[in-house]
Amino acid sequence: MPVPEIIFPADPLNPRRPDPHFAWEARMLRELGGGHHLVDHDALLAGRAEEAVRRVPQDSGPLWYRGWMLPSARYADFAAALTARGGNLLTSAPGYAAAHELPGWYDVFEGSTPASAWIPSDGPVVPGPQELAEAAARLGGRGPAIVKDYVKSRKHEWHEACYVPELADLAAVGRVVERFVELQGEFLAGGVVLRRYEEFEGAPTGTDDGNGPGGATGHGGGAGRNGRGDAAGHDGPGGEAGQSGAAGAAGAERVGGDAPGTGGRAVEARVWWLDGRPVLVGPHPDAPRQAVEPDLADVQTLVRRLGCRFVTTDLASRADGSGWRVVEVGDGQVSDLPRGIDASGLLASLLAARRAAPRERATPGS
Ligand SMILES: Nc1ncnc2c1ncn2[C@@H]1O[C@H](COP(=O)(O)OP(=O)(O)OP(=O)(O)O)[C@@H](O)[C@H]1O
Ligand SMILES: [Mg+2]
Repeated sequence: MPVPEIIFPADPLNPRRPDPHFAWEARMLRELGGGHHLVDHDALLAGRAEEAVRRVPQDSGPLWYRGWMLPSARYADFAAALTARGGNLLTSAPGYAAAHELPGWYDVFEGSTPASAWIPSDGPVVPGPQELAEAAARLGGRGPAIVKDYVKSRKHEWHEACYVPELADLAAVGRVVERFVELQGEFLAGGVVLRRYEEFEGAPTGTDDGNGPGGATGHGGGAGRNGRGDAAGHDGPGGEAGQSGAAGAAGAERVGGDAPGTGGRAVEARVWWLDGRPVLVGPHPDAPRQAVEPDLADVQTLVRRLGCRFVTTDLASRADGSGWRVVEVGDGQVSDLPRGIDASGLLASLLAARRAAPRERATPGS
C-alpha cells in the first residue's frame, strides 16, 4: 500500500520551498522518510485550485494536507483538483467541513462543550435584533456568553468583540456582535455563533509564557498573517525561531488577567486524533510550555462518533473541578502545533495511516 505524502503551502517568495511556517514540519517529515508536495495557497484561496496544485505530480496517491486554514468550499475545490490528478486527500471535503466548522461537530459534542447557537450568514452581515434575540433565547436568555464565527473568535479583542457579560442585555450583545462582524470582515466564516461562557481553570501563576489566550495567535488567528486564511496564525510550531518559546510572545497582545470574564489564562490541551486514537497530546499553541494532562475517555467516544479521520480537540478543565470540556474541535490538517513540540510521532502516524478509515474498510467478508 502506498505511504501517504503531505502537501504543504509553498513559500510565496520561493515556490519551490515550503512556507517558512511549515518548513520545520517538512524537515521532520523528511527525517522520517516521508515525502511532501507543495501547493499555492493564494491560488487556492482565490478559487484557482487547478493552478494551485500544478506542482503536485500526477497519480500521487494518498495525501494529507498540513497548511493554512481554508474555507470549506475552497477545501472542496482543492480535493477535487487533486482527484483530477489521480491524488486522494485522505480527509474528504465533507469530513473537513464537519471538523472545521462548529455546526459540523456541535451535535456530536453537545453537552460536553459550551451550549451554542448560531446564525448562518452569507458574508460579513450583522444579524438583525430579532435573530440575535432568538439565538440568545436558545441559550437560556441570560448569563455571560462569547461570540465567534463557525471557525474563529476575536479573543484578542475580548471586551470589544468576543465577551458578552449578559445575554439579557440585547443591546450590548448587538454591539459586540456588530464589532465582531466588522473586524472579521471578508474572513467571517459561516455565520455568527453565541456560546454560553464557562469558567475554566487558569494556569498556575508563573507558568504563563506571555503568549497566552488573548494573544494575537491561535490555530487560526482570524484573518491570519498577511490576510492568509490560515491554519496557524503565528510564527510557529517549533518554527524557524527554534525552541526558545519566548520568541513568539513578541507583539502578542495581552488581554485580560485572572478575573472572570477577562478571557485570561484558561489551561487548554490540544489533543490530536487519527482514526479515533490520540496520537499527540500537548498544550494549546497559545501557551506552548503549559503542562496538560486531560482526561480523554469521554472525548474519545465523541471523536469516534464524529467519524473524521484527523482532528484536534481543545480541552479545558472547568474551574469548579467538575471535569474537562471541549472548547472546540478542529481539522487536524489546519490546526497549529505548539512551538517546540515533538511532532515526529504525529507525522509518523500520518505516514502509517491506511488509505481508508478503519470503519470504511470494514466491508463484509474483508
Ligand atoms: N464558552 C466559553 N467559555 C469561556 N471561555 C471561552 C469560551 N469559548 C472560548 N473561550 C475562550 O476564548 C478562547 C478562544 O475561543 P475559541 O478557542 O473558541 O476560538 P478560536 O479563535 O478558534 O481559538 P484558537 O486560537 O484555538 O483557534 C478560548 O481559548 C477560551 O480561552
Ligand atoms: Mg481555540
